[in-house]
Amino acid sequence: MSLLDRLIAASVGFIPKSLVRRVAWRYVAGEDFHAAEQVAQRLEEMGCCATFDLLGEFVEDLSQADASVQEYRAALERIHEVGLDANVSVKLTAFGLKLDEEAAYVRVKDVVSHARGFGNTVRIDMEDSSCTDATFRIYRRLRDEGLDNVGIVLQAYLRRTKEDISELAALQPSCRLCKGIYVEPEAIAFQDDDEIRESYRAAMGALLDGGSYLGIATHDGALVEAGVDAVRSRQVPTSGYEFQMLLGVAENIRSSLVRDGHRVRVYIPYGRDWHAYCVRRLKENPRIGRYVFMGLFRRDS
Ligand code: FDA
Repeated sequence: MSLLDRLIAASVGFIPKSLVRRVAWRYVAGEDFHAAEQVAQRLEEMGCCATFDLLGEFVEDLSQADASVQEYRAALERIHEVGLDANVSVKLTAFGLKLDEEAAYVRVKDVVSHARGFGNTVRIDMEDSSCTDATFRIYRRLRDEGLDNVGIVLQAYLRRTKEDISELAALQPSCRLCKGIYVEPEAIAFQDDDEIRESYRAAMGALLDGGSYLGIATHDGALVEAGVDAVRSRQVPTSGYEFQMLLGVAENIRSSLVRDGHRVRVYIPYGRDWHAYCVRRLKENPRIGRYVFMGLFRRDS
């Protein structure tokens, strides 16, 4: 961790909420679904689809998890009502994974079943390595139940990812592939940027060759290029993949992908928990803080 990163991590708790808000509002749509919907509508006019993420993880009791389920159900209803090209992303810890795996399973199944009623899909975000096995277990159970409108996330920095792709291959999972955002020890995750990129390229190839629907989630120009090459060289139709980016990040790359005819989905976080979420993320991974800090001085990261 660089000195600047350590400084950011140490001081983030003391940054006034108003300043965090100023920065956060580029990356978070607002406090409620109405705000998120407006952002998605603007993005749709620019040719992008969306995925909505209700902020709030690590619930302390299951009533909080139930509230998340209700919010997701309402979001899915609204997406259907207004005909938005959008789905939802969920975190199993927000459904109580750390309290009771079965409770999280029941809740995510409720949301996935509700989405299926609208012909929509749900993607389960991948959290830190303490959640990886349980997340795959729950994903497999949902697929075993015949719910195939659910997708998973793979993190290229994890050393296990190559093996996970082989183990999941029979399910032809719809996969979002990202680098991985949580700080993990060397024994579990590659630390070197080139090794992570190499793992990302290999995973991308393996997933496309296995017939998975692939969400190429990155703002790294080299990987975006590799993604374009990977789908072109395999002649994957636009119905077989999409690029995915976080709200407010790499908007120039996003526009050029849209211009070139690729499907691009923007990840839109929203919710009352925005402040705690931002502080937690910055503390967990000060590298993100560095991007954000630099983004204050540059319009397009
Ligand atoms: P890299 O970190 O090299 O970033 C490339 C450039 O993009 C940076 O130089 C910077 O300019 C900009 N940038 C990247 N992230 C930024 C940020 N947050 N704020 C401001 N600028 C930023 N991770 C995970 O562990 N589980 C998950 O479920 C998901 N889900 C997910 C969904 C989507 C749609 C995306 C795009 C990403 C995720 N991630 C994630 C996060 C992912 O693992 C990764 O941490 C970030 O995307 C940053 O990695 P890049 O590939 O963009 O490269």
